[in-house]
Amino acid sequence: MLNFLKKFRKAKESSVELIDKIKEIKSREVPEHIAIIMDGNGRWANKRALPRIAGHHEGMKVVRKMTKLSNELGVKALTLYAFSTENWKRPKLEVDYLMKLPEEFLETFLPELIQENVQVRIMGDKTRLPDHTLQAVEQAIQKTKQNDGLVLNFALNYGSRAEIMEAVKTVAAEIEEGSLKSSALDEDMFSKFLMSGSLKDPDLLIRTSGEIRLSNFMLWQLAYTEFWFTDVLWPDFKEEHLVQAIAEYQHRGRRFGGI
Ligand code: IPE
Ligand code: IPE
Ligand code: MG
Repeated sequence: MLNFLKKFRKAKESSVELIDKIKEIKSREVPEHIAIIMDGNGRWANKRALPRIAGHHEGMKVVRKMTKLSNELGVKALTLYAFSTENWKRPKLEVDYLMKLPEEFLETFLPELIQENVQVRIMGDKTRLPDHTLQAVEQAIQKTKQNDGLVLNFALNYGSRAEIMEAVKTVAAEIEEGSLKSSALDEDMFSKFLMSGSLKDPDLLIRTSGEIRLSNFMLWQLAYTEFWFTDVLWPDFKEEHLVQAIAEYQHRGRRFGGI
């Protein structure tokens, strides 16, 4: 941690205040699982009269920064909504670029992820992903599977309703063939059938760009998650924003229905 802070201070002379805030949140309970709906790339580009894909490219750099910081903070899992099952509706040029982004990201940052002990995972319907996209992510999963630091979980071609439907079908099939008894099924067991598998439910959900909705993201898993919304567009999202979200999270009283 100290090394990280030193590097950080060097890179940003003016961020002494941020470093203090990082120390402060580290002294309290840091959320184990943070999920982020990274939104606003298109609007970020529009504001600069750039093509939308320039916003996605910029957003990729923020993914790197947030991965680094989360890892340093001791966050156990970071789930990032990268592409929804509804995003196929977008113009082909944009979809094609979004499908190239995982390769671009991993080509540049995979060595760093390996070195920093990050474990890459994906959740989503892999069947519709182009081969080149799938190969890049499978390779990253393979090369980082021994790592036991931060789990970096990309929601790629992910939709929560589809996820729940698939889980229901699998459960139904297992009951039909007799390998599972419906009376044995409970919430814990059902959640293992979801794409998030053994990952614990997110403690904190962040959505950028001012939209206050879930857009088909982790509907089951977010039942008791703390939500934090910001108007900041994803490419403008900085370390201080994540720190602020965590600090506010730490001041919330989570009751889970109790008192
Ligand atoms: C989020 O940014 C990235 C993806 C959905 C892939 P958007 O592309 O949705 O950006 P806006 O919401 O149009 O600004
Ligand atoms: C949600 O953002 C999906 C991702 C961030 C990948 P969208 O931009 O697709 O959501 P809507 O259309 O505004 O609800
Ligand atoms: Mg959007």
